[in-house]
Amino acid sequence: MASANGKVILCGEHSVVYGGDALAVGLPYGVEARATAADRLSLAIDGRVVDSSQPAIEALTRVLRRLSLPEAAVDVELHMPVGVGLGASAAMAVAITRAVSELYQRTCDLSTLLAAAHVWESVFHGTPSGVDAACAALGGCISFNTRRGPVTTPVGAPLHLAIAVASPASLTKSMIERVAAVRQRDGAGFEQTLSRVHQIVDAARSAIANGEHGLLGALLDENHALLCQWGLSTPGIETACRAARTAGAFGAKLTGAGGGGCVLALCNAVTQPLVMNAWQRLSFQTLAVHLEPSSAQMANVERS
Ligand code: MEV
Repeated sequence: MASANGKVILCGEHSVVYGGDALAVGLPYGVEARATAADRLSLAIDGRVVDSSQPAIEALTRVLRRLSLPEAAVDVELHMPVGVGLGASAAMAVAITRAVSELYQRTCDLSTLLAAAHVWESVFHGTPSGVDAACAALGGCISFNTRRGPVTTPVGAPLHLAIAVASPASLTKSMIERVAAVRQRDGAGFEQTLSRVHQIVDAARSAIANGEHGLLGALLDENHALLCQWGLSTPGIETACRAARTAGAFGAKLTGAGGGGCVLALCNAVTQPLVMNAWQRLSFQTLAVHLEPSSAQMANVERS
């Protein structure tokens, strides 16, 4: 039996695909996986057996092959929303990798875990950066890039986040392709926006460490505006962002791949319930995340 958590990206989604850093926070909920030895590989999600033609079976096969492990019967229980951009797929990958490693008494260090999760994620998302799996594995607040992997980043003051599910998420792969098309079309303009996002992420990392939430909110708003330029927002996302800012959030933005999915608002203890109420009045499903201050810690991952 093993578990892993979902994630919410604070800033730097998409630019992380082009080598920049992304900042992400682990959710307090996720998935559990149980593995038992079996002659034939099987996968059940919330008690429903997954058909052998489904991509999840291919993904599980590749994970076992990557770890050089024999067949297993895997049962997954979901304790988080799925298909809304909160990293349920990466959480499944990490929980399953931990469960099958434990079953066959294999040590699974962080770099092995992330490499196996990458194999699973590639089946669904094409060329994922790995930020979702890193956050699922480590939780807390992480800074991630594709060269260095994850680093736990210091949090100077309590972070109160509110999340609204604006709509079902679009396919991450399609949204990555949409941004790639903008890059192709826009050349120098795209590179300029990209370098501004890199600066925003650096400034956001310092603002988180120093507890400067007014500044952090403004940086999240700006990151959102740039993601909008890449065609990633929707009317539902815009409604949720506006409602959060009107209810007193420091800032609000789409989070994850975009084209649907979730909105993240940075709040404090007073405004968090106000933002959640405003969203509930608009019939959005909501989630609250609260992160206590913590210090930095190197995660020490080698990419493979
Ligand atoms: C998806 O959660 C985040 C993206 O940046 C894709 C990735 O990093 O793999 C859109």
